[in-house]
Amino acid sequence: MKTLKLIKVIIVMALIVTIGSCQTQTKKNKTIPGRKWWKEAVVYQIYPRSFKDSNGDGVGDLKGITSKLDYVKSLGVNVIWLNPIFASPNRDNGYDISDYYKIMKQFGTMQDFDTLLAEMHKRGLKLVLDLVVNHTSSDNEWFKQSRSSRTNPYRNFYHWWPAEKGKPAKRWSYFDVDHNAWRYDAKTNAYYLHYFARSQPDLNWENPKVRQAIYKMMRFWLNKGIDGFRMDVIPFISKDTTFPKLPAKYHGNFIDYYANGPHLHEYLKEMNKEVLSKYNIMTVAEGAGVTSNEVLNFVNPSRHELDMLYNFEAMGLKRMPGTPSFNLVAFKEIYTKWDSVIDDKGWGTIWLGNHDKPRMVTHWGNDSPKYRALSSKMLTTFLMTMHATPFYYNGDELGMTNIKFDSIKDYRDIETLNAYKHLKETGGNIQKFLDKEKLVARDNARTPFQWDTTRNAGFTTGHPWIKVNPNFKTINVATEEKNPNSVLNYFKKIIKLRKENLILVYGKYTLLDKENPNVYSYTRKMNGEKFLVLLNFSNHNASANLSFDMHKARVLIDNYTSGPTAENIKNFMLRPYEAVVFKL
Ligand code: NOJ
Repeated sequence: MKTLKLIKVIIVMALIVTIGSCQTQTKKNKTIPGRKWWKEAVVYQIYPRSFKDSNGDGVGDLKGITSKLDYVKSLGVNVIWLNPIFASPNRDNGYDISDYYKIMKQFGTMQDFDTLLAEMHKRGLKLVLDLVVNHTSSDNEWFKQSRSSRTNPYRNFYHWWPAEKGKPAKRWSYFDVDHNAWRYDAKTNAYYLHYFARSQPDLNWENPKVRQAIYKMMRFWLNKGIDGFRMDVIPFISKDTTFPKLPAKYHGNFIDYYANGPHLHEYLKEMNKEVLSKYNIMTVAEGAGVTSNEVLNFVNPSRHELDMLYNFEAMGLKRMPGTPSFNLVAFKEIYTKWDSVIDDKGWGTIWLGNHDKPRMVTHWGNDSPKYRALSSKMLTTFLMTMHATPFYYNGDELGMTNIKFDSIKDYRDIETLNAYKHLKETGGNIQKFLDKEKLVARDNARTPFQWDTTRNAGFTTGHPWIKVNPNFKTINVATEEKNPNSVLNYFKKIIKLRKENLILVYGKYTLLDKENPNVYSYTRKMNGEKFLVLLNFSNHNASANLSFDMHKARVLIDNYTSGPTAENIKNFMLRPYEAVVFKL
């Protein structure tokens, strides 16, 4: 009897302690203003074409993704962003949509999509789709109608310039062989506008019917239960339809013009009012051309437009000889500036790689066998300890590297292929171009995901649409899952750390030692707590110039297997590519 009583007392006491600690936790978190699920999320980007092929046709598909959801869940991420999965002739890998209401044949069926979404939600994973509405494919029914006659009801769905008015004023295209964004169409004796390839005509957002058609399509997907949109080149949607001659300052720098159309914010507000505000979702703009001066116009909640925008400023940093292979002082300045501009007036994002960029470790770290794993982990530490929502590209959690093709025949990307054609036609230096592509080409990040050591890295039983990186024998999920010190296991560990410490999400960011050319150091502070993050971006020992009392400092995570020595801690000394997070 007595023992029973004792057990009861113990249980009650344990309950009191647990409830008490939960309350402290909640109390602490309650003091965080503006909490949102998408601020606390880690977004994992899946490139469907290269993730997992379920039917052996050499192309990744939706069933393949569904079959790997337990893997994704095991990472600790909570949102998946899928690159476009809609019907498309694939001239730009899905960024050329021929039918917004259909799934791309190679990727599967609507039934496969519904299953994928249900299986994700079952696992507590949210789904963000790519919204590509600056342009469609030229195979889209809207465009087919539009180009068929000048009086067709869809004519004004796109931008046309009648040839009898002469040649339209110069606009530059990203992917066109001739760099020309106007394409002459004989059928109606007019030019149409395409900021990207000629197979990607730009929609005319100035036409309210276009906007309504897009909102309707957005509601269709949102009503299926998706959790948000990543908006492809959304700053480009509005155009001055008089198409004036551009002042010289935009020549060679046309993105500043494209990203500042006259009615852009009117349209985003309208989209928010008519669609976004009706759902509990997240939205993120691909912020091409948007500067830190303009970001709040998109993400300040009082403006009722979008939640987040990812910026490209650091992507413009030039490569340079030495380590780090870019100017770290400038890099720090950029991230610090964006953080201070957004501050508590909105919310930011942080990313270092995606399907349009080279592999994170090759570009920002060091992909040599000696430093690949260490520098991957260091970069991951940066992403997971910044004051913004991290967007993390599939394969970076394994430390996948650029494939660095030698031959143009291996490339699949329209951007590379058309730039190559242009050079050929204009007599440019082909070898120089190919050398550069090894570092910058988008296909570097689009090679198949490396699952295991079997044929084609376990991606497909067929012939992959693009070559598999031969380093899959060492860099792959199966091998890395078994190794407690792998890049993959480090990724899981640091996500856990971020989730368990909201200070890493919401805590105030302060840059330290800003002139240090090798080490990036900063603190995160919240509710009397302070974390210190030290990142060595160089391939040699380097120290931070700091003066904290480190006696009580506790190492929360370190990318070396042996933690830092007391001596190193005292001197803020870091080994090559070392990353350490301390609780002070
Ligand atoms: C940005 C996308 O990320 C890229 O892949 C695409 O080629 C262009 N927008 C055009 O849609």
